[in-house]
Amino acid sequence: MKNSINIIIVAIMMISIVSCKKDSKPNYQYMPNMYAPVGYEPYGDYEVFPGGQEAMLPAEGSIPRGWMPYDYKDSTEGYQLAKDSLKNAIRYTKANEESGKALYDIYCAICHGAKGDGKGTLVQREKILGVPSYDDIGRAITEGSIYHVMYYGINSMGSYAAQTSEQERWQIVQYVQKLKADLEGKTPRIDTNVVPVQVEAHNETTEENHGNAH
Ligand code: HEC
Repeated sequence: MKNSINIIIVAIMMISIVSCKKDSKPNYQYMPNMYAPVGYEPYGDYEVFPGGQEAMLPAEGSIPRGWMPYDYKDSTEGYQLAKDSLKNAIRYTKANEESGKALYDIYCAICHGAKGDGKGTLVQREKILGVPSYDDIGRAITEGSIYHVMYYGINSMGSYAAQTSEQERWQIVQYVQKLKADLEGKTPRIDTNVVPVQVEAHNETTEENHGNAH
């Protein structure tokens, strides 16, 4: 009799201990900081951060992934330097020209016109003035100057740095160069494959060249 009372008491104790455990809640934690990180709300005020702000500027000199620094300054000297020395970073292929055309028709044609003659829809409707033709002799645009004005904008033309990637800007540059050549009655530049594929030799370099050729 005494024995069974003991058993019942032990059983009740066990049940009451176990019954409080809930899988959906954390159990007892003796050093909670060991398990749970301190969460900071985005843009919250916290003393631990410099300036008391959770949101901080990127460390000086850091470069976002996929973004390349552009060294030419937004000034007359920077413009001139880019005009003289900045060269297209991609090759003038048909594929790049087609991508350039698609982007040009989206971003530029509304002012500059599909042919680049400065007679886009907004100009015809007199919504904007002073849009030059790409073959304007006084401006004598170059690869570098086209890229530069797309990057920073120029007077009433805005910057396209936020809408386009570096590669896309160079594709547009190629297409603008093509429109300019067409306006001047010249043959647009197309880079033919500079790396000839050697059929006989079967070394590694040939494999690579072969890959590039396609
Ligand atoms: C809102 C109308 C507008 C749009 C859109 C526009 N431009 Fe322009 N663009 C202008 C005007 C206006 C000028 C003349 C600015 C000046 O020199 O006063 C100009 C000038 C230029 C020049 C000559 C700059 C020089 O060196 O003298 C180039 C090249 C050019 N634009 C390219 C582009 C390209 C490429 C795009 C598309 C990514 C584009 N523009 C989109 C209005 C526009």
